[in-house]
Order: sequence, then structure tokens, then C-alpha cells
Amino acid sequence: MTPDRKTAGEDISAAAVLDPTLPLDQAVTPGTATPVSGVLSAAPNKDITIGLAPASAADDSELVSTVVTLVNNAYADAEHGIFHAGYQRTSSAEISGFIRQGRLALAYLNASPANDSPVTGSRSGEASGQRHVIGCVHVKLLSPTLGDFAMLALDANHRGGGLARKLVLFAEDHCRKKGCTLMQLELLVPTSFEHAGKARMQAWYLRMGYRVVKLGSFQEEYPALAPLLAGPADYRIFEKEFV
Ligand SMILES: CC(C)(COP(=O)(O)OP(=O)(O)OC[C@H]1O[C@@H](n2cnc3c(N)ncnc32)[C@H](O)[C@@H]1OP(=O)(O)O)[C@@H](O)C(=O)NCCC(=O)NCCS
Repeated sequence: MTPDRKTAGEDISAAAVLDPTLPLDQAVTPGTATPVSGVLSAAPNKDITIGLAPASAADDSELVSTVVTLVNNAYADAEHGIFHAGYQRTSSAEISGFIRQGRLALAYLNASPANDSPVTGSRSGEASGQRHVIGCVHVKLLSPTLGDFAMLALDANHRGGGLARKLVLFAEDHCRKKGCTLMQLELLVPTSFEHAGKARMQAWYLRMGYRVVKLGSFQEEYPALAPLLAGPADYRIFEKEFV
């Protein structure tokens, strides 16, 4: 997926929001979304909760910094060879803006089952048993009926256990509840060489029910980023109809 440069059609801040004062298993607002808990192979016996970060977290510089690092590290690997060296997927300003707008869903690792301490992005927080961010997805409404997710990323230590699928399902569920009938995602795929990671992502999105509906113009959508591309790339738009 590509960096977010579009303005969404609608603010989604009224959606399920993690309440940092609640224990993790109650952190998603009842009736608006189901907490996603599970045991990951990479993190045995540790609960995971997914929810939109509360707007107040936009001013939590440690949390924002954790998310920025997580995303930039994940994309440095995932987009290797696609952009020129030095390209960064996101910034503190962008992440804090997404959080403030209620558009950033976070996956939190509950390091201690009895923990009721505040959400944190800090390593000291992790060590002391506070909730720690291990993944994210940016979700927004492009129109009243069209949802979109982007910037799907997981900490490398927490991959391979199905958490990315849960993040996508969270984004879809959220948009469906807001009245969307369609979901969209974008995938930038280099055309001058076979990119194994992008091929894997495309295969996965197809398995998730998405279909390529058109090739967009990366140049038109992201004029500031296009010059940073290291070579030619398809900018594929996928859609999935909710049934
Ligand atoms: C994309 C990302 C979030 C996926 O995380 P993950 O932990 O592999 O996610 P999941 O465990 O939910 O697996 C997703 C799918 O990939 C499959 N998969 C996992 N590891 C795989 C591997 N090494 N090879 C092929 N498929 C694999 C899983 O089987 C799963 O498919 P399924 O849901 O049909 O069973 C993670 O790799 C990441 O952060 N990547 C960097 C950022 C990025 O590329 N974002 C997407 C840009 S388009």
C-alpha cells in the first residue's frame, strides 16, 4: 500500500475507540466493535486487542514515535528496491494527524493479563507490563459508501500468526458499520523486477476477496512521491464488495 496523501470523505472518529483507562479486554467500546483477542504463535499466551487509538493519544509522543518506527521499519523491508534509499513511509506529523482524526487502528499487546495501566509506546512501558503497540492499520472513508485501508504494518516479532488478517477485518468491519458497501486498498508493484513481498500481498488480498479494479496513476495521486520511485511500478487499486 502507498502513503496516505488523500483527504478522506469523512471523519470516522465516532467509531470504536480504545479506552486507555480500561483493561484490555474491555478496551473497545461495547456495541461498536468486538475486541479481537487471540494467541499468536510469535507471542504465546499474550492477548492482543485491536481498536482505534483515542484522539488524546495524538499528543503521546512516545506512542506516536513507536508507531512511526514500527511502520517505517516494516516498509523499509517491504518496499525495498521500490523507492530510492532514504524514503520513509510515514512521519510523526502524519501519524499524529491520523490518530487525531480517529483513523488509526492499533494492535496492542497485553504484556500482563492483570494489567490495567495506560497504553504506551515506550519500551519501559513494555517492560513494566503496560500495553504495547505491535501493529497498525489506517482506515478511512473515501465516500459514504467506500471504505479504505492502508499502512498495514506489524512489528516483525509478531508476524505470521494471523494478526494482519484481524487488522484488515477490523478495518472492514468498521467501514461496514459506518455504511460502506465497498472496501478499497492500493498496492504499488514494481514492473521491472519480481517483488516477492508484493506478489505475496497481492495473493493474500485476492484470498481475502479483493479484486484489481483498475490501474491508477501514482504520479497523479502522489505527485510528491512519484519522483522518489526507483523504477516503473503499477499502482493497483483493489476493491471488495461487502455482502
Ligand atoms: C503485511 C504484514 C502486516 C502481514 O503480517 P503477517 O503477520 O504475515 O500477517 P498474517 O499472519 O495475518 O498473514 C497474512 C497472510 O499471509 C500469509 N503468510 C504469512 N507469512 C507468509 C509467508 N512467509 N509467505 C507467504 N504467505 C505468508 C498468511 O498465511 C496469511 O494468509 P491467510 O490469511 O490467507 O492465511 C506484515 O508482513 C508487515 O508488516 N509487512 C510490512 C508492511 C507491508 O508490507 N504492508 C503491506 C503493504 S501492501
